[in-house]
Parts: sequence; C-alpha cells; structure tokens
Amino acid sequence: MKFSDEHLILRDTVRKRMAEQDIKEMIKKYEHHNAPFAWEFVRAMAELGLTGINIPEEYGGAGMDNRSGVIAIIEMSRVWPGGALVLGVGNSLAGYPLIRFGSAAQKEKYLPDLAAGKILGAFCLTEPGFGSDAANIATFAESLYDGYLINGTKDFITNAPAASFFILFARTDKKAAPHKGISAFVVPMNERIADKSIVLGKIHHKEGLHAAQMCEVAFKDHFTCHCALLGKEGQGFGIAMQTLDHGRNWIAAQLGIIDGLFEKCKRHAENRKTFGLSLIKRPAIRHVLAKLAFASDVSKMLLFHSAKLEDEDKPFGHYASLAKLFSSEELAKIKGEAQSVYGGMGYLYESDIPHFMTAGDAPPIYEGASNVQRSVILDAWIKRKLLLSAFIPFHDTPTENSLELLKQKVERKLNGKKALESESQVFAFAVADFLPLVAAYDLLQNDFLKEWPGEFMHFKNPSHILRILESKFRKEWPDQNKLDVPVWDSAAEDVL
Ligand code: CAA
Repeated sequence: MKFSDEHLILRDTVRKRMAEQDIKEMIKKYEHHNAPFAWEFVRAMAELGLTGINIPEEYGGAGMDNRSGVIAIIEMSRVWPGGALVLGVGNSLAGYPLIRFGSAAQKEKYLPDLAAGKILGAFCLTEPGFGSDAANIATFAESLYDGYLINGTKDFITNAPAASFFILFARTDKKAAPHKGISAFVVPMNERIADKSIVLGKIHHKEGLHAAQMCEVAFKDHFTCHCALLGKEGQGFGIAMQTLDHGRNWIAAQLGIIDGLFEKCKRHAENRKTFGLSLIKRPAIRHVLAKLAFASDVSKMLLFHSAKLEDEDKPFGHYASLAKLFSSEELAKIKGEAQSVYGGMGYLYESDIPHFMTAGDAPPIYEGASNVQRSVILDAWIKRKLLLSAFIPFHDTPTENSLELLKQKVERKLNGKKALESESQVFAFAVADFLPLVAAYDLLQNDFLKEWPGEFMHFKNPSHILRILESKFRKEWPDQNKLDVPVWDSAAEDVL
C-alpha cells in the first residue's frame, strides 16, 4: 500500500508535537479522575489542524483523507491514549455525521467551530438499558407541530461534559420496526442552561482514559425545533451505523497504544541488565517485542486497508470491524506480557505503564464491543459481503477449500440467526476471532506485498508476518472439539 508524502509529513508532525514537554505536563495534569477538561490539548491539536482533519476546507477544516485521520490518532495514542480519545470521538462520532448527513445550515452552524477546536460534540446513542442492542433504544422524540419533545436517558457519552452539541438518536415512531422508527438530531447544548431540560450526570469514575470524560445525559421534556433533525425522520439507525463504521476505524487506530508499549519496552530492555546480560538479548523478552510488533503491524494492515476503502468510497465497514476486533483483542492479550518486561517498575505510575494498561482495557468494550464486531464480521462473511480469498497453506487444497467448509460449519451452527442472537455462538465467535488473520494474509499477498509501507511498520521484511500467520493457521485453526463446549456448558450449569 502506498502512502503519500503528506501522510508521512503528518505522521512526523504529530509525532514531534506529542514528544514535546508541554504534552507530558498535560498528561500529568489531566489524566486523572476529576481533572478539568483537557481543552488545552484540544487547542494544541487544533493548531495542527487535527480537530478538523476530515472537515472540508470550505468549513475551515483540513479536508484530509481518512488515512490521515487514523495516522494522527495512532500517533496521539502512542503517547496519550486518553487525549487521543477526546479527539477521536470529537472528529469521528460528532464531526462525521454532520459532514455526511448535515444540512447546509447545520454544517455552517457547527463545523467551523469544531474545526477550530473551539467546541466539541458528543454522540448520544447508548442508553442504560441498551448498549449493543442499539435498535431498541427507548429515548422518544414526540413530533409536535413546531418541533420535537425529547425524553430519555443516554449513558457512557464520551466528551458530554464538554459538549456544545449532541448527535442524538431517539425513537420517533413507536409502531415501525425498531430500527426503522429511529431518527437522528443535532441538539445544541446551550439550551439546557435556560430550561434545565438536558441534565448531565456526574463524570463517571473510570479505570483509565480519564481525559476522555464521560457521563450520563438525561433529556427531560426537552423541546427542539424541526431544524435539529439530522437527515430524514426514520433514517437515524442507518446514520448511527454508518457513523460507527467510520468511528471503528478511529478506535482501531488506538493500536497506537501497542506502538507506545513496544517503544517503552524496547527502551527499557536496552537499558536494563539482569544476571549480567542486557534484557534486550534475552529470547523471552525479544519474543514479547516481536509479538507486540506483529500485533501492531497486522492491525495497521487491516486499518489502513479499511481507511483506504473508505477514501475510495467503497464499502469498508467489515474491514473497520476486523481492524477494531483484532487490534483491541490483541492489545488486551499482549499488554500483560509487555508489563512483565518492566518487572516491578511496570506497576508504578512513574513508569507510565499503568496508564497504558488501563487504556488497553477499553477498546474491546467501547464503540461496539468485541462481540458486536464478531457478529458483524460473521454476518458479512456468510452473506458474502466480506470476501476472503486466502489460500491457506496446510488447510486448503484447490479441490477442498476448508475456509469454505469452516463457513458452512458456522452457518449450520447459527442456523439463520446472527451470532449475537444465537444460542450456539461459542464456535462462531472463535471463527470470527480467526478471520482477521485470514484477511491479513490476503492483504499481505496482494496490496501490501506490492508495496510494504515500511515507514509505518515495525517489520522491515513482511515475510516474517506471513510465517507467523502460517504458524497460527497451523495451531489455531478453529476446531469445535478443542473448544470443549459441552464441558463448559455443564460446568456453567453447575455454578449458575
Ligand atoms: N451501515 C448502514 N446500514 C446498516 C449498517 C451499516 N453498517 N448495519 C446495519 N444497517 C442497516 C441494515 O441494512 C438494516 O437495514 P434494512 O432493514 O433496511 O435492511 C438495518 O440497519 C438493521 O440492521 P441489522 O438487522 O443488522 O441491525 P441489528 O439490530 O441486528 O443491529 C448491530 C446490529 C451491529 C448489533 C448494531 O445494533 C450495533 O452496531 N450495535 C452496537 C452499537 C454501538 O457500537 N454502540 C456504541 C456507541 S458509542 C456511544 O454511544 C458512546 C460514546 O460516546 C462513544
């Protein structure tokens, strides 16, 4: 895959800025519960054009492509995952739906200030009772002759404490099928001051990512004009799903946390001697570093491919899900090993490692939990919207395509249901976890083989990634019997 000079310049510019002393001080100042909102960081990123990176130039943005957006977030996450999330959500979940679905008046009203880093928005989809099951949200917007009266509560809303507007999803038609009765709105936040009809909850005390403050947002007989409608009535679920497809690329870009861990662990291993030998010479430590590099490079292949498809206006959502699932699950798996390279120091805040540990717990949960991504990926694969053509060594022969057999097994297990709804989802989910590896193998044989973007990757020679993937195919090919489903079913029966 080829990147332009602009992509490289952007990467270097953000990297240089994130290494400056004032950013280190901001992390200390804002990365704890109940700190003030990190507007200082938003403004610093605005100076580089990053608050409006995808916003068209006519609205004061940088008008850059989607690959630029994810490159910027990777670089921010390498240093400050919490700060990166503030910008990530601001751009992808609040900016994107306005750019894509907003009226001329809505764009004019919000985009210039968003691009300039003067305001932020927040995305209000999740409710206390409905997270993954987004089609069933209960917030209701009653249509009146001159506007809508909105009642309902949203929760886990990142940036809400600082938001000047909300991209709000509410039911407008209770009789229609759940996903067809939802509409999207752009609700300005200043109205709450006058009538207290939008009430913010206390800032949630999270495990990490403190700079990205989140809270509950309750709408109590909140009146908004017809002009707040985003798109048309009934289009809200589609707007939410398309925004989340876009946003999943930005969350996958938190793979920068893996890069941050790689660099910190490498530096520590080079400097630390144990039993007369530098850690960097010890095979067990070297393997951890190679695993981090593998996790990062495979995540980047999937993410860059997804962002490129989006830049080319082609369907990309399935790759966004593959990238998000793989990067977040790999991060969650490998971060403990990275911490062990640091030994006791890795448990101390002085080492920075605990921030990365807690930040690494979140990506499998937010903006579509891993099981949502698994279900989206499987659904697309079964319906042939996601085409994986990899010829898998040791498993496929030209006459017997075992990837196709695997798909047939999954189809039989799911029996027409989506994996999220199915009672026999254990095997299906195991297959879903395997598919990003297959997709990466495909990409390596095609786009990335022709042009290995070494400037962005850890591996100089991608044939090492091919060998690791082949070894994983040999060892980790999903097998119903190895999952011991009946053993765990009866164990669960006993304890529950
Ligand atoms: N793009 C466009 N349309 C889509 C779509 C997509 N990606 N995905 C589904 N649709 C359409 C379908 O085509 C279908 O339309 P038709 O009926 O016209 O054919 C319709 O939407 C319904 O599709 P499904 O039957 O697949 O919908 P579902 O109810 O089964 O839901 C789901 C599927 C993938 C689980 C979805 O509910 C989902 O993504 N859930 C997770 C939500 C999520 O990520 N929440 C986190 C939000 S972040 C937040 O709120 C807080 C914050 O600050 C970050």
